[in-house]
Order: sequence, then C-alpha cells, then structure tokens
Amino acid sequence: MAVVEQPDTVMITGASAGIGAAYADRFAQRGHPVVLVARNQQQLEALAQRLSREYHVKAEVLPADLTSPAERQRVEERLRTDHTIGILVNNAGVEAGPALAQASPDAVAAMIELNVTAPSRLVAALLPRLVARGRGSIINVGSILALAPELSVGAYAASKSYVLTYTLTLHEEVAHHGIRVQCVLPGVTRTATWNVAGGLESFPPRMIMEVNELVDAALAGYDQGEVVTIPSLVDSVEWKRFEEARRRMLPELSRSVAADRYKSDIPEDA
Ligand SMILES: NC(=O)c1ccc[n+]([C@@H]2O[C@H](COP(=O)([O-])OP(=O)(O)OC[C@H]3O[C@@H](n4cnc5c(N)ncnc54)[C@H](OP(=O)(O)O)[C@@H]3O)[C@@H](O)[C@H]2O)c1
Repeated sequence: MAVVEQPDTVMITGASAGIGAAYADRFAQRGHPVVLVARNQQQLEALAQRLSREYHVKAEVLPADLTSPAERQRVEERLRTDHTIGILVNNAGVEAGPALAQASPDAVAAMIELNVTAPSRLVAALLPRLVARGRGSIINVGSILALAPELSVGAYAASKSYVLTYTLTLHEEVAHHGIRVQCVLPGVTRTATWNVAGGLESFPPRMIMEVNELVDAALAGYDQGEVVTIPSLVDSVEWKRFEEARRRMLPELSRSVAADRYKSDIPEDA
C-alpha cells in the first residue's frame, strides 16, 4: 500500500503581520501545517484560527520575542525536536533605524539580534535534522537594500547583506544534501512597517508592491528553484550578469603579490 506523505510543517517567523502573515496564508493554502512565531500572541491566534478554518490545516502559535535569548531558545528547541517541521521561513525583521551617526549602540545591537542573529541561530538549530533526513527548505527574507546600500541609512542594509551572503553560503553547503535554500529580496512592500511619518508616501506608487503580490512572486521563484528571488526585477539576466561579474574576480581576490597600482614606482634600493 502506498504511504501518503504529509506535507512538511512550515515555521514562519514574523507571522503576525505583513509579509510573514502572507507566507502563512499561502503555505496553509498549499496544505502545509504552520507554526506561527512573533511577539503578538493575539494577532497570531487570530491568524491561526482563520487558517485552520479556511484551509483545514493545523495552525499553531509559538509567541516569542526573537531578540530575547531565553524566548528564542524555545523556538530553537522546537526546530531541533519537532520532526514534522521541514520548512523554515526566516522573515521577522525590523526596518531601517536612524543614520549611523545618530543610532544608539543598543538599537543597532537589537536590530542585528533580530535580523542577523535570530535567523542564523534558527537555521543552526534546524539544519542538522534536515541534513539527516535529506530534505527540507529554508527561505530567508532579505531586502533589495542588500544590493543597494546607498538607498538607505543605518545598519539595516548591512544586516540584509548578511542575510544574502549567508544564504548563498548555505546553498553551497547544503544543496547536495537535498535542502532547498532561497533568499527573497523585496523592494518597498506595503506593510505596517511603513506606518511612520515619511513612510510609503515618500515613494512613487510604481515602486510599491502589495504584500500578496510579493509573496506570490517569491513562492513562484521558490517553485522554480531560484536561490535568489528579486520579485520586481524585470529581467533575471541582470542578476546573472551581476553574479558573473563577481565570479570573474574570484581568481584574483587572493594572491601572493599586491596589484601593481599599489606598488611604489621607486625601487627599494634607490
Ligand atoms: N515592507 C518592506 O518594504 C520590506 C522591504 C524589504 C524587506 N522587508 C523585510 O521583510 C520582512 C518582513 O517585513 P514586513 O514589512 O512584513 O514587516 P512588519 O509588517 O512590520 O512585520 C514584522 C513582523 O516581524 C515580527 N517581529 C518584529 N519584531 C519581532 C521580534 N523581536 N521577535 C519576533 N517577531 C518580531 C512582527 O510581529 P510582532 O510585532 O507581533 O512581534 C511582525 O510579525 C523583514 O525581514 C523586513 O526587513 C520588508
């Protein structure tokens, strides 16, 4: 008798609102049980109830502040021990703070804790289990600012560059174990994160994507096996060219001699 495999459970961080809530909706619609992580328990529960009612899937909430080591530990433990979880969407993140000269060290550290430390720790908790079973997926939500640091201020773009580089390394390490890895680079997306003075109204409408359009495109990229998905990039050849330019430099990035332009014209014994 054929064994019918259950769809993997998907853990989504930052699932109480915005892009994370849309991911939860779409994975539940595809028949995946979901575990929803964020701080706002009420919002998580309301979403979980709707998803199980509409899509008849198991939807659980795991409230946690991912900047708190003790609370994050509970999420890591769940990833380590729950054998039904096969997909992780690292989505929770905070947007740009003030410019570097005005930012408090604690605010920068808190942003790094959520945007960099939390996804790295969650992957580290989950990965050994995925490698052992030879399948699973990790989706990391970055930002187009990883490619465009001049378009923002503060340490946010750098945190998203980390997410991109980290995902590319992860792909190199685990693709041959049957694990799918994707980094999604959203542009400006209409979510509550922009509910601040000078928010979305500072962008022309042609630059703003609706959240469902973004997540549907990201999942189309996932289905196509993309490692990097830039939902609004018209011609994917542009990303390929960017990658090729980077790879062309590889043979010259570490050599025993400095490049001629860094050498003095004056001979040493003169
Ligand atoms: N919107 C954009 O234009 C845009 C563009 C590029 C990239 N992104 C990235 O997309 C991701 C989602 O952004 P979004 O626009 O959907 O943001 P959002 O609407 O503000 O939602 C952020 C989510 O993260 C959760 N979160 C915030 N701090 C948390 C913490 N300390 N611990 C646990 N969860 C926390 C929030 O829930 P609680 O408050 O309940 O904890 C919420 O569910 C982020 O990584 C962001 O950097 C967004």
